[in-house]
Amino acid sequence: MKYHIRLNKDLIRGAKTVILPGDPGRVEKTSKTIDPNSKYLASNREYTSYLSYIEGNPILTCSTGIGGPSLSICVEELADLGVENFIRIGTTGAIQEDIKVPSMIITTGSVRLDGTSLHYAPINYPAVADFGLTNILVDSCRKLNLDYKTGITASSDTFYPGQERYDSFTKYVRREFQGSLKELQKLNVLNFEMESSALLTICSVFGLKGASICSAIVNRTKTETPDDTVLELAEKNLADVVSLSVRNI
Ligand code: URA
Repeated sequence: MKYHIRLNKDLIRGAKTVILPGDPGRVEKTSKTIDPNSKYLASNREYTSYLSYIEGNPILTCSTGIGGPSLSICVEELADLGVENFIRIGTTGAIQEDIKVPSMIITTGSVRLDGTSLHYAPINYPAVADFGLTNILVDSCRKLNLDYKTGITASSDTFYPGQERYDSFTKYVRREFQGSLKELQKLNVLNFEMESSALLTICSVFGLKGASICSAIVNRTKTETPDDTVLELAEKNLADVVSLSVRNI
């Protein structure tokens, strides 16, 4: 039994693919979109898991919690149980003016602003997504007629200073991060989130496949706070995309 995720080989039934939302609250809905008969497996700390079947093939959904440290535990333990394909789904803040809310952002590579990925590979090692899985995500967005963009994501360890947010407790952002939002915009980075760089780095280092798709719930060139209807639609769109995608892996 894996210590944190509370899963073992028996429970996951040989599943090779896992869908990884950050939020434990999204696991049931996501897995039941994949397969209405999905079954609850376990829940411990930030890790909640369900098992679905598609044409007899088991598919896991397991939450990672927020950020690289908790994600890395989840990926380590699932990899050790034999999982090979890791698809992150989550929400994100778009930083380019033309990105609509909620539209999909499929990460081809991540700017490694996080600390976790450094425990696995030096900073000059790229955080890149698996080409095959990424193509499947693109294809699903097309088939579902969802707005999407592919490109580079910035992955930060913090939601506030690391993403240069001033709507925080102190309203202060360290000098190192002041102006970072503008610079990332100029570098054609599409969005901010908190897990993709760790996931993509770890998967590459392990020789496994990782991909990431996020729904833009805010466009930071316009506002800092999402509204609830956008969040609901984001969650539904992500569940629909992965439900279609896992049928093509
Ligand atoms: N998640 C993030 O990390 N940043 C956002 O702006 C929205 C979701």
